[in-house]
Amino acid sequence: MQTVPTVSLNNGANIGSVGFGLYKVPLADSAHLTGLALEAGYRTLDTAALYANEEGVGQGVRAATEEWLDREDIFVTSKVWNDRHGYNATLAAFDESMDKLGLDYLDLYLVHWPCPDQDLYIPTYKALEKLYHDGRVRAIGVSNFEPEHLDRLLQETDVVPALNQIELHPWLQQRELRTLHEAAGIRTQAWSPLARGQLLEDPVLTSLAQAHSRSVAQIVLRWHHQCGVLSLPKASSAGRIAENIDIFDFTLSTEEMDAVAGLDRGHRSGSNPVLVG
Ligand SMILES: NC(=O)c1ccc[n+]([C@@H]2O[C@H](COP(=O)([O-])OP(=O)(O)OC[C@H]3O[C@@H](n4cnc5c(N)ncnc54)[C@H](OP(=O)(O)O)[C@@H]3O)[C@@H](O)[C@H]2O)c1
Repeated sequence: MQTVPTVSLNNGANIGSVGFGLYKVPLADSAHLTGLALEAGYRTLDTAALYANEEGVGQGVRAATEEWLDREDIFVTSKVWNDRHGYNATLAAFDESMDKLGLDYLDLYLVHWPCPDQDLYIPTYKALEKLYHDGRVRAIGVSNFEPEHLDRLLQETDVVPALNQIELHPWLQQRELRTLHEAAGIRTQAWSPLARGQLLEDPVLTSLAQAHSRSVAQIVLRWHHQCGVLSLPKASSAGRIAENIDIFDFTLSTEEMDAVAGLDRGHRSGSNPVLVG
């Protein structure tokens, strides 16, 4: 079993440098894959109301805590979906997620998308602040927030988000947001850290993989780790799940990090946040 290093969030809570992503994991497989991830050494799990697998994730977590793991050692994230923006709707959505998860508390609750056309992300986030102050969630944050959304949030709310979960990989390096996050004490967490598999044949990455006798996925996840970016790879087999956290015993040199930095090309594998309503 691998040990995944943790980093502290701005409120002192600890989160894994690499977590297990569960987008598009069918409900029927989600308890099993959650169990496989925990057995491999992941302690950070990323689900959302949208993923329709919170029941399975909760089941996997409860099975582990009944048998061999302490709940405090597992970090569970979920997110409020776009059709539940607004203060009261978000509080109700949180209760529904917690019923599905079957857990006493959540580690991190995120606003999944800012949905600027609805213009409700401030009251939505204020509901998260209430859940945080009530002790129902250990940390709160956002996802897919662009600089203008973060600027407004920092001005109009009290709790600085623990992290912003954004699409980030070598083909979309998000330098402006990363700089802004660092200045504000917000961690950067990468979704689709492998660009959904689209970059696995990139020649620069494949040559680095050959040089280190590692897979391209491992090179990319190591790059995230050395950038100080948290990542959430999703995988469907025990082999890949283990492979994706077997990255803590080698180092990319400065020249190699520079070579990956040169691959940035603004390529999105998912939606552009300003267009998601
Ligand atoms: N906040 C948001 O808006 C948002 C949006 C998207 C995703 N996310 C989160 O980020 C997580 C990851 O994103 P993602 O699932 O879109 O993309 P990803 O993790 O970048 O890529 C997943 C794809 O890569 C493949 N893969 C994984 N490990 C591999 C390996 N070692 N070698 C070769 N291929 C490998 C997977 O295949 P198999 O599954 O077949 O193994 C899958 O097709 C999600 O699960 C979710 O938790 C959040």
